[in-house]
Amino acid sequence: MPIPPSWPYYTYYKLTQPFESDGMEKRKFIIKDETKKRCRIFKNDPETQRRFTVISLELFHFLYQVVKIDFSIYFAVEDQMIEFIRPHEFCSDLLDQIWLALQKDFEGIEVKIRKSDLIKFNTLIDEIRTKKIGALVATAPELDRKTVDIFANLSIASQMIVRGGISQEVADKVKASASYLVSNLLDSELAIGTLSKMIVCDPTLYDHSASVSMIATAIAGRFLPIPFPPKEVLAVSQSALYHDLGKTCVPPAVLNKPGKYTPAEFEVMKTHTTLGHQELQSYIEKGLQIEPLAIRVAREHHEKFGGSGYPDGKKGRFEEEEQRGIHIFSRIICIADVYSALLMKRAYKPSYEPLESLKIMMEMAEVHFDPVIFKAFLGGIVNSLNKINSKSSAGRIFSFNTKGTLVECKDAKSKAT
Ligand SMILES: [Fe+2]
Ligand SMILES: [Fe+2]
Repeated sequence: MPIPPSWPYYTYYKLTQPFESDGMEKRKFIIKDETKKRCRIFKNDPETQRRFTVISLELFHFLYQVVKIDFSIYFAVEDQMIEFIRPHEFCSDLLDQIWLALQKDFEGIEVKIRKSDLIKFNTLIDEIRTKKIGALVATAPELDRKTVDIFANLSIASQMIVRGGISQEVADKVKASASYLVSNLLDSELAIGTLSKMIVCDPTLYDHSASVSMIATAIAGRFLPIPFPPKEVLAVSQSALYHDLGKTCVPPAVLNKPGKYTPAEFEVMKTHTTLGHQELQSYIEKGLQIEPLAIRVAREHHEKFGGSGYPDGKKGRFEEEEQRGIHIFSRIICIADVYSALLMKRAYKPSYEPLESLKIMMEMAEVHFDPVIFKAFLGGIVNSLNKINSKSSAGRIFSFNTKGTLVECKDAKSKAT
């Protein structure tokens, strides 16, 4: 197999015979001699794994924005750990090597840094985020600056969770960020419109759990016909930040797969619900102060109102059917989760504009969502988007017609219902 010219440090082979009993083909990395000469390589044993932490794809991409680093970036390939970029070698070519490798369908590869370098890494990411936010608000002044700041704060908490291992410090940060969100977001009508536009304008600022938390908080605290009291809203915000914790237990090769899942891979992916449930329960049993309903949300956020979701095939409302019903927190977070995922560009799907995302959701609503919550969500989002759009001259204003379809208003000054 020819070696791609842009991969001077790696090559790979593809096994021609099915490798696994399930018939799935497996590709493997082989570390090239050039890499062996250039880099320090050591065993990726349990002791090493304890001292290192994984960097998410989103945060890794932030490194393209910096000119220097003061820590090394490691690349774990199965049982080997490579000190791949040392501070004096830092350049985008080497970042490309890792980025390309992560886009391929390989198992057992991860980007890591030493846990002792986490503070340096976090400081760097915060600086980049602040700069990006400044640049974004400068080019799109209609966006609400405070919302963007709150989102940055939430993203820090969300990233602490996905880096694995919740400590009391992480749980405290989650609670503090959620409290900051609840006390500020409840005042601002511009928040969700700003968030939606921000994700589309600068996808690198996206953080999934932070977006889900912000949207779910708006639904619970503002959009519902009878909004939750602040204490309950805070519980929703925190539960949303933890909702995908189980993904930290899913093999990275499945989690980061750029293409569509095979049925076998989808089964693996589905386990993030039950694994998240178990993880959170064990943290709470150890005495960590975590919102108790987060356990339930981690398990239920992929259940569908009509009963065709997973892992338990629950159906309808817990308030009406205690045994099989889905909790209201999970029904809210499920809607926020789908909306957030549609806005974001992924390797296997484009980024949808906010209104396009709403239309897609309207098509799936009947089987997927609680109709009362979904209606409140639609009204709230459209209002917020219209508020943002009316501040920019090119903005389009939308409303629902009598059939409940989203339509553009001819008169931009018309009010959305
Ligand atoms: Fe999920
Ligand atoms: Fe999610």
